[in-house]
This record gives sequence, structure tokens and C-alpha cells, in this order.
Amino acid sequence: MLCLTLTGNDYGLCREQVRQNRKNIEMVEFRADLMKVIDTDAVRQLIGDLDLPVILTCRRLKDGGAFEGSERSRIQLLSRLIPLGFSLVDIEEDVKRPELPLLAKEHGLKIIRSFHDMESVPRDLFSRIMKMSRKGDIAKAAVTPRSIADVLMLFKAEKELESIDKIIIGMGTYGIPTRILYKRTGSMLTFCSAEGSSAASGHLSADIMHDLYRSDQVSPATRIYGIIGNPVMHTSSPKIHNPAFEKVGLNAVYVPFLVDDVRSFFHLADYLDIQGFSVTVPHKQHVLPYLGKISREVKLIGSCNTVLKYNTMWKGVNTDFYGFLKPIGEELEAQRIRRAVVIGAGGAARSVVWALRNYYCRVTILNRTVEKAKSLAQETGSAYGSLEDLAALETADLIVQTTSAGMPPQEGVNPIEAYAFRGEEIVYDLVYKPRQTEIIKKASRAGCRIIYGMDMLIAQGILQFESFTGFTYPED
Ligand code: ATR
Repeated sequence: MLCLTLTGNDYGLCREQVRQNRKNIEMVEFRADLMKVIDTDAVRQLIGDLDLPVILTCRRLKDGGAFEGSERSRIQLLSRLIPLGFSLVDIEEDVKRPELPLLAKEHGLKIIRSFHDMESVPRDLFSRIMKMSRKGDIAKAAVTPRSIADVLMLFKAEKELESIDKIIIGMGTYGIPTRILYKRTGSMLTFCSAEGSSAASGHLSADIMHDLYRSDQVSPATRIYGIIGNPVMHTSSPKIHNPAFEKVGLNAVYVPFLVDDVRSFFHLADYLDIQGFSVTVPHKQHVLPYLGKISREVKLIGSCNTVLKYNTMWKGVNTDFYGFLKPIGEELEAQRIRRAVVIGAGGAARSVVWALRNYYCRVTILNRTVEKAKSLAQETGSAYGSLEDLAALETADLIVQTTSAGMPPQEGVNPIEAYAFRGEEIVYDLVYKPRQTEIIKKASRAGCRIIYGMDMLIAQGILQFESFTGFTYPED
């Protein structure tokens, strides 16, 4: 179940957070440490008004909470609050005083024994969880994975600690898959926040957990897909795949994985029986040694953005290649694009240049570092130059912007500032956030036809969905 951690620091705000998220949640956590004022009557009334079980928590600073007083005053506060109608109370593993659990039991509260590690995943994690659960309490471990290998360890809790009532949480960005797929860690619940507030690092909102990831519906039969990258949380791909799974009635979920080391991710992929995943920067080349089969365009480009389970091996394809072509397919087929200029000579440019060369376009690659343009040009049979070589631009039917100029932190940068658009050329910018880059604004003013990075992102995502599932992407 999803448990909403209340972050409103007064009683009215807490009520409002529950009201707004009511349809998505089955439990609430009241964080006494976040409240401006503790008024026992107001707490009793709030808990009484909520038609959900409520966990009582008062988190210390060292565990990521906000309670600044002495340990004695914290225990006193918890003792005062326990009788007010809560269903569960969170008591940290190192609280040795027996009166608190006794009082909780007297008032019919279940106990969550918790420990927090804000730095790492302790190597003795499983034995600590077993110890915490010995008295019949629910064991909760909120730890901080620092690598994808740490994340694998958290998922192993499902089988290693099968018979134990537990809540396992990986905090921070590495831990996000352990929140979305909390059932696959063997956890009985996971925490989320109200939109616009985050109670802990990596907390997702109740809406996102429920509507986008359908976390509560994950079962052993759910097929897992995802995206690997570093960074990865900026990606829009979960919004392309998850609603489509639901639409075609597939029991599947698509999860973002922050990945430091591709080899460790393949271990996790085997462990969770992941069926396929998207690959983004910087891993498009890193995955190649692990693939048993690659498609023609992956071989050509040397870069793979889609990995599929293919019998017992992994197969790599590149939907960037076809996704890029989709919005200009008609023009290419009709040979209305004969000359193209590609700005940039990095990974994204490689796919673009090969895709255009595949249609026998004459390509000129312009790059800040001319050596890189030269090398890609020699490999692909193209011409090359610097960003100041405006002559090639003046005769181009298509200009493709593939550099990171225009996206944060380089917002507002136009890599071909000196060029005045004629209005006849098609301008295609691979940057999709923001939608209106400097180059697009200038080209629009000149009357050019514009193709947005989002068009390519969606086209490659649709192709990816179809290779993952075999279903046609639902049109609406
Ligand atoms: P990607 O895989 O997204 O293409 P990349 O391989 O790091 O990323 O390539 C980034 C591209 O953006 C390069 O062509 C880079 O130019 P250099 O080769 O000279 O580094 C280009 N780039 C990044 N910032 C730029 C800027 N402000 N102006 C011009 N080109 C820029």
C-alpha cells in the first residue's frame, strides 16, 4: 500500500494533503517532528477525522528528520501522542527504553522498528532486519544506495527475508526503483509525498506512484521495463510507456534506473527478469559488450538505445535512428532533402548522420571541435567544417541541431548564432527541453518549417514500445 507522509506543518495543511491524495493512498504517516506546534487535542481530532490508519513518527535530525530537541523530550512527546488514536508507531532500532513499546502495545499500536542510514547500505543489512523483527515488530530499513549494485542488494531482501514483515527503502535517486517496485523488495508498504513537497530524498508524489507507475498493482507476474542513464530522472520516457501499457492492458511497468555501472545493471536485470530497457547518456556504447545480438543500425552507428530480452540473450537495436527519420520520412522518400547540415559531432550526431546517409543525403558536419567533425565525416563519407562555416548552411535543405547547446545549463545558447535563416530550410533541433530553443525561435521567425526534439523523442519511444511489447502503440 501507499502511505502518504504528511509534510504540511499545521493541522489544516495536513488535512488538505490527505484530501487531495485520498484516492491514491491507504495509510498516512503523521510526522510530529515537522509540525510547528504539537497540540494534543488537535492531533486527536486530526487522527480521528482521517478514515485511514495513521503511523506516528517523530524523526531525529540524524535520521533525516527535523526534531532538534533532546532524546528525552522526544520520547516524552511520543509517549504523549501514542494514546491519541494512531494505528502504528515508528520506534528507532537504537531506542532501548522498554516503556515506549509497552505503552504502544497497551494502546493497541503495531510497532515499526526502523533504522536509517543516510550514507550507505550497511553490509549487515539483512541480519539487522532479522534482529529488528524478532519481537514480532515490522522492520523498516531506510538506507542510501550509492550504486546500482547496492540497489540489487535491496531487491534481494524479497527472497532472503521472505517471511519477515518489512519495509525496505532505498533513499536518493539510486533508490527510486525500490520505491516504485516496493513489492519486489518484499515491502508491505512504501512512502510518498503530496505533490510539491518531499519528505525524504527520492520520495515521489502519490499521483506519480499511483497513476504513472501503478506501484500497488505490481505483482510477481508484472513485466518490468525501464531506462538506464546517468542522470536519468529528467527523462520523459516513463510517460510514453506506462500509460500505453495500461491502455493495451499489459501488466507491465517502466522504471527509471540511475546506473553507474552497466555490468551491475545487467545482474539486476537478470535478477528482476527485466524484459527490455531504454539506454540513454552515457551508456549507449557501454551496453554493447553485453549484447548477444545487434541490429544492422547498431553495428553501423556503434550505439544502442534499446535492449530487448531475446530468448536467453540480450539484443540491441537503435530506435533513435528510425525515430529521427520518422518526422522527415516523406521529404526523404520524395528526395526533397538532398543536402543536410548536422551541427555537432557527438553521440547523437552519429545516429543522425548515418540515418541521413542511409537516404543518400549529402551531409556536412559542423562542430566546435573540428577534429571530431572530421573524424565522423571520414567514417560516414560526409563533408565537415567549423561552426563558422556558414556556406554549407546557406544551401542546406535541412539543418539538424544535435549538440547540448540550448538545454540546461546551456539554455539560450545558439551554436550557429551568426547564421541568418533563409526560411526555406527545415530546422530540426534534437533538444526537447525547453521546446523553444534559441535556434528554433530564430528559425521560426524566418519562416522555416520546424521539427521539435519532442517529435523525435516520441517517435523513437513509440518504436521502442512496439519492440518491447509487440503491440501497436495506442493512437489516442
Ligand atoms: P551527445 O551524445 O548528446 O551528442 P556528446 O557526445 O557529449 O553528447 O556531444 C556533445 C556535442 O555538443 C559535441 O558536438 C559538442 O561539441 P565539441 O565536440 O566541440 O565538444 C557539442 N557542444 C556542446 N556544447 C556546445 C556549445 N556550447 N556550442 C557548440 N557545441 C557544443
